[in-house]
Amino acid sequence: MMPNTKLYEGKAKTLFADGDDACLIQYFKDDVTAFEGKKHAVLAGKGLLTNRISAALFADLAEAGIPHHLIARLDDRRQRIRHCAIIPVEVVVRNMVAGSMLKRLSGKCIALEKGQPLPAPLLEYYLKDDDLGDPMLLPSHITALGLASEDELAAIEGMALKTNAILTARFASIGITLVDFKLEFGRPYKATPNDPPLMLADEISPDSCRLWDSKSGEVLDKDRFRHDLGDLIAGYQEVARRLGLSDALVDEASSQTKEAACV
Ligand code: TMP
Ligand code: ASP
Repeated sequence: MMPNTKLYEGKAKTLFADGDDACLIQYFKDDVTAFEGKKHAVLAGKGLLTNRISAALFADLAEAGIPHHLIARLDDRRQRIRHCAIIPVEVVVRNMVAGSMLKRLSGKCIALEKGQPLPAPLLEYYLKDDDLGDPMLLPSHITALGLASEDELAAIEGMALKTNAILTARFASIGITLVDFKLEFGRPYKATPNDPPLMLADEISPDSCRLWDSKSGEVLDKDRFRHDLGDLIAGYQEVARRLGLSDALVDEASSQTKEAACV
């Protein structure tokens, strides 16, 4: 495949061919969507922030031995990644009650409070299909429908819980509560004997996590956009700053936002 050929355009990222078939280039767009794409905006600097934040978090996970697709961040927008066949299942890890869990289950039978801690991390699975509204799956659906084998599902569960432990501690150290997040996994394409059978893929950023300031409860993630809670870029910049990412990054994202506002 010719390098730079566009292979797939998603809502927040585009994938391009790399010179090597075993790799891809992942480009982070400024598009932000919610509710299966029904709400959409383009916020200048968003892709730069999600690229930087995701690369920093994946580096922490690599140190802890979690296999993932990121080879290198190339620049402010692009990452070179291992080419994976993505398993079309969104794996959600919840530490507290929020979002769709609160909406679906709080009622006459069980009164739940937003931010109520769960006794142990909870894993949920959703089919990655916007047209169907990403329906929830049981583990038994995943194996019965051939989306993943029993062994793969066990590996996914182990990696998701380990990722949660590492990211919860990392965010706690910078005064942020990791409420919940979504992961995707893939099987390496053109696998070599050294490749793990499964790797963490996609991204981990405020687009795919709920992140609350530990003291004030201020929302720093995409819920700002979903529920009109304030400037999304300012929230993502705060997460980037606390993760120790450079001031240049933060300045660049804000100057891009100003330019966009002037157009
Ligand atoms: P939910 O509470 O809306 O089910 O979301 C749980 C977590 O998963 C939350 O951190 C946001 C993230 N998420 C995505 O990254 N993509 C999605 O399509 C959805 C629905 C949630
Ligand atoms: N990722 C989904 C969308 O873009 C849903 C969400 O994150 O709220 O529509």
